[in-house]
Amino acid sequence: MKLKQFLIVAAAAVVFSLPISAHANEGGVALKHAEVDVTDQKQIRRGLTVFTDVCMGCHSAVYVTYKGLMDYPEIGLSREAVDELRGEHPLAAGMVTDLSPEDAEVSYGKVPPDLSIITSARRGGADYVYSILTGFEHDPHGKVPDGNFNEYFPGNRIAMPDPLGWLDHDESDTAELDQQAQDVAAFLAFIADPHQNERHTIGVWVMGFLILLVIVLGLLKKEVWKDVKH
Ligand code: HEC
Repeated sequence: MKLKQFLIVAAAAVVFSLPISAHANEGGVALKHAEVDVTDQKQIRRGLTVFTDVCMGCHSAVYVTYKGLMDYPEIGLSREAVDELRGEHPLAAGMVTDLSPEDAEVSYGKVPPDLSIITSARRGGADYVYSILTGFEHDPHGKVPDGNFNEYFPGNRIAMPDPLGWLDHDESDTAELDQQAQDVAAFLAFIADPHQNERHTIGVWVMGFLILLVIVLGLLKKEVWKDVKH
């Protein structure tokens, strides 16, 4: 293969291997785009607060330990803050809701799923979470009770009662609720893959090293062949 052909094939391989972002869930409705930065400690911490204050009333994130909230630099809580959050729970315990599956079944007809890896498990990831939280509407056909009709949930009927109070909120609260939804989406996107930032940094170093290596080898080749007559 000639060099030019090789470069074209290599470039095509890179382009086609890029992740194609999902814009629609199974219902086919285009998701809203969440402004989420999984390297932004402030946003992730705000999201953690929404998670512990609101979501943990029903959901767990069993793969996230209280210790993790100190150890991941992207969260970096102090020991005091973690102690306050965990109460009697051991440092190594996962974040588990007080709501028992039996009670959840009775109250909502369903056990709320664990949210540790929800953004990896659902198409659209953080966009999906954000869209669901801000997707509560009055059912245009009047069939699904208020608080259970959701534009973005497949089938439009969700067993989760509108957790942020999006339906019928005051206009003046829109920006704040919207922000809370994006922040908790950022927190969930971070915990679903807490080493993603580390991997990116390593990736950048590896690429830099490879580029340098190619340059050095190129120069070396020139040097080695310089006296050979073609
Ligand atoms: C009052 C209980 C309750 C609270 C509080 C609550 N949820 Fe839920 N949630 C549920 C239930 C029940 C379901 C299952 C819905 C279904 O399958 O119909 C659910 C489902 C979900 C789903 C959809 C999962 C899927 O299967 O696609 C997401 C995402 C979600 N919750 C995120 C959150 C977030 C984020 C918060 C906090 C802002 C939160 N929930 C607060 C009860 C709750």
